[in-house]
Amino acid sequence: MRKKLFIKTYGCQMNVYDSDRMAAMLARHGYQRVDSPEGADLVLLNTCHIREKAAEKVYSELGRLRRLREQRRREGGDMLLAVAGCVAQAEGEAMAERAPFVDIVVGPQAYHRLPELLARRGRGRSGIIDTSFPRESKFDELPREEGQSAVSAFLTVQEGCDKFCTFCVVPYTRGAEVSRPVADVLAEARDLVARGAREITLLGQNVNAYHGEGPQGREWGLGRLIRELAEIPGLLRIRYTTSYPSDMDAELIAAHGEVPQLMPFLHLPVQSGSDRVLRAMNRHHTADDYRRIVAALREARPDIALSSDFIVGFPGEREEDFAATLELVEEIGFAQAYSFKYSPRPGTPGAILPGQVRETVKAERLARLQELLDAQMRRFHAAQRGRELPVLFERPGRHPAQLLGRTPYMQSVHVEAPELRIGDLALVRITEAHAHSLAGTLVTRSM
Ligand code: 5AD
Ligand code: SF4
Repeated sequence: MRKKLFIKTYGCQMNVYDSDRMAAMLARHGYQRVDSPEGADLVLLNTCHIREKAAEKVYSELGRLRRLREQRRREGGDMLLAVAGCVAQAEGEAMAERAPFVDIVVGPQAYHRLPELLARRGRGRSGIIDTSFPRESKFDELPREEGQSAVSAFLTVQEGCDKFCTFCVVPYTRGAEVSRPVADVLAEARDLVARGAREITLLGQNVNAYHGEGPQGREWGLGRLIRELAEIPGLLRIRYTTSYPSDMDAELIAAHGEVPQLMPFLHLPVQSGSDRVLRAMNRHHTADDYRRIVAALREARPDIALSSDFIVGFPGEREEDFAATLELVEEIGFAQAYSFKYSPRPGTPGAILPGQVRETVKAERLARLQELLDAQMRRFHAAQRGRELPVLFERPGRHPAQLLGRTPYMQSVHVEAPELRIGDLALVRITEAHAHSLAGTLVTRSM
């Protein structure tokens, strides 16, 4: 009898990748993935700790699952509850105390030990916690997925972060920066393409700090890695996320101009336009550094579209600092962006800085910033009207003859094209621009 596994994934794409790898591993131990917790034998929450109330949300979800489990037990069944991801890493023992009914708490570096942890649980042990950073790498131990791959697949090449931005929990939950060896990345990429992937997004908390071991023990940067990936026949598109400004080296910038498969869209968080705030955030760049990097990228690839993250109301942020952020946004022009109110994370240096900003001020600044960013995003979408763009089709649309794909700039496009299939790349004339997506008509198929 196959056991049923339900995974709920929160947060970033790296968690999505990890969830898939955990599912692949647990499949070898008899678990079949299902898409609801009802009837599941094992429920795994893969959690995110980046912003406030993350832990609270996990605890309330656990409360719901506990009631579901009680109901199943009354019916003679059972269900194991496991928590993975950054909340698991950050809470550890605290979770065992506050939610003693949780069977397993496992941190992001210990996923390959899940079968062993499940076996220990099966032998009657309770409250099993593994938030260690083992010597062996989870990537070597976790099996690859089998079967058909998504058209647009994720591939984690780097994990962890050594930057220690003073607002961020990642260096504590994901640990120090580690890059996977080039050969491993290439093997996984070839396997993904063989199973149907046409686009690969390279993932890492600090992906452009990638420095994997290459042939003859030499270290390769991300630009070099991308050039090599571009040699894989059938791999039509390459992307990477998330990048740190000062790690955009010359080789990577040049790749944007020279590697046609490397898509002209880059998520490059700047966080603030004020040097004073950037310094307080322990960012290793100024606003002008960011401007210079963007100028170099645009020189290499004039149509490159930019995306960013912003934090408003960091401790000590004055009106003039915030004005500098607005000015930077005006100047750069973003195609897309995420913006957040600063949320103090216990254990990070920012949480105890003087000059914490009032909630009302944060909310007001966020609204002003988002208004500007939304207008830029709408303008960017509208500018595509009338253009012919290559679109890679990834998913069925809202009705049978429709497919959903993406432009090189990451915009979603709906196209009526019964003759096309998922995985096709086609030239599309953009006819409509909406707030979050585009619509178009087919010009030529299969480019
Ligand atoms: N408060 C608000 N936003 C944060 N981010 C990370 N930590 C915090 C925090 N404490 C944002 C940053 C980062 C994105 C993933 O989340 O902008 O780039
Ligand atoms: Fe967090 Fe800064 Fe590292 Fe990004 S670069 S993961 S924001 S510490």
